[in-house]
Amino acid sequence: MDRWQTIIEPFRIHAVEPIRLTTEAERERALEAAGWNLFNLHADDVLIDLLTDSGTGAMSRDQWAAIQHGDESYAGSPSWYVFLEAVQELFPFRHVIPTHQGRAAEKILFTAVGGPGRIVPNNTHFDTTRANVEFTGAEALDLVIPEGRQPALIHPFKGNMDVAALERLLTERGDLVPIVVVTITNNSGGGQPVSLENLRAVRAVCDRFAKPLFLDGCRFAENAWFIKQREPGQQDRPVVDIVREIGSLADGMTMSAKKDALVNIGGWLALNDDGLAEQCRNLLILTEGFPTYGGLAGRDLEAMAQGLREVVDEDYLRYRIRSTAYLGDALVQAGIPCVQPFGGHAVYLDARALLAHIPPLEYPGQSLAVELYRAGGIRGVEIGTVMFGLHPDGTETEAPMDLVRLAIPRRTYTQSHIDYVIEVARDVVSRASSLRGYRIVRQPAQLRHFTATFEPLG
Ligand SMILES: Cc1ncc(COP(=O)(O)O)c(C=O)c1O
Repeated sequence: MDRWQTIIEPFRIHAVEPIRLTTEAERERALEAAGWNLFNLHADDVLIDLLTDSGTGAMSRDQWAAIQHGDESYAGSPSWYVFLEAVQELFPFRHVIPTHQGRAAEKILFTAVGGPGRIVPNNTHFDTTRANVEFTGAEALDLVIPEGRQPALIHPFKGNMDVAALERLLTERGDLVPIVVVTITNNSGGGQPVSLENLRAVRAVCDRFAKPLFLDGCRFAENAWFIKQREPGQQDRPVVDIVREIGSLADGMTMSAKKDALVNIGGWLALNDDGLAEQCRNLLILTEGFPTYGGLAGRDLEAMAQGLREVVDEDYLRYRIRSTAYLGDALVQAGIPCVQPFGGHAVYLDARALLAHIPPLEYPGQSLAVELYRAGGIRGVEIGTVMFGLHPDGTETEAPMDLVRLAIPRRTYTQSHIDYVIEVARDVVSRASSLRGYRIVRQPAQLRHFTATFEPLG
């Protein structure tokens, strides 16, 4: 395969979904109506939607077939057992608790283990994870290695946790730490993987301080592929084996199945601790549903089970990771500084570096994201000061980085769609110095990036 440069999508298109071309004038009107928040757009007005890789992928023929097997019994559905077996095949945790998506698993877990005065360390909390930790009154602490905070620096595992910093935290304030979390891959840090070596070291520290280790496992298969490609001694190992070792190092996980279970909705919380599992199931019943379906239909459980079998296919993972790097390479050639190396599910454009004339508190990431949409109908997302700059006490500071993430939905766009994205990005770069910042007109107290409205400055 490696003799050929062309990236072959390892599938044929079986059902087509039309996308609508729009004019620049139409997009300008849509932006104004949306308060310059790309989350507020009507998705029909988006040509290439790279807002997220979450729940936006295409399901396979076999997943649609599995949906027909869905059994909607309230309790003990056969679909639940199919799902349970598929999860435990990869992650043999004693308790698996289905939820409607990742944040529901987070809400349940942190309601059980969080609370005022507590500290939850993570390599980097994803926004919903941070919000769920902070909502309980606990502190969400990011302990990624220093290399993970430098967008241009090349390092094979920039998602790694700073083990020495974790050790210091546990030595000095360990009694306040209920669990340690590692996010694979590290989405908010650029979709960067975590090495097996790092996970083993974190495990050893957790053992020493008797702390449970949880994975935020959304992109476990992509992370395992990076391990196979980049970690010495892992090249000849099947990805599925690497996944199992990752799981064996943890005491539990939260999962958004909308990523590496290749479905449009779903998730789970899995763990070994019987007492904590009971507490979590009680919380599950309050908001999600009975423990054998969580917030899902039986058919969703079947689709997840099939997705879990497909996502560890190495032809799929090779195509997936290579096609993300194809976009990244072209954007760098076009003169856009990007987080390097490229993440698994997305390319992260360094808007702060590209738009150095826009101060962080005027949201350079927002400016770049809006312009990609205005010029070409491409929707990305700001991951920077808009997303992370507002604190629970109402103060605002600049985020460590101002990025725009172009996330690639799984098995959805072809290489020519991506070539179009590259062409539009080149055009935006050529006008970068004329882009302006934004001011926020209205915002909620939490997760403001979803609903805030903006106004262009100048
Ligand atoms: C690392 C990470 N954790 C948690 C979540 C939350 O998952 P969900 O959107 O299914 O609630 C996401 C979603 O993007 C994520 O990327």
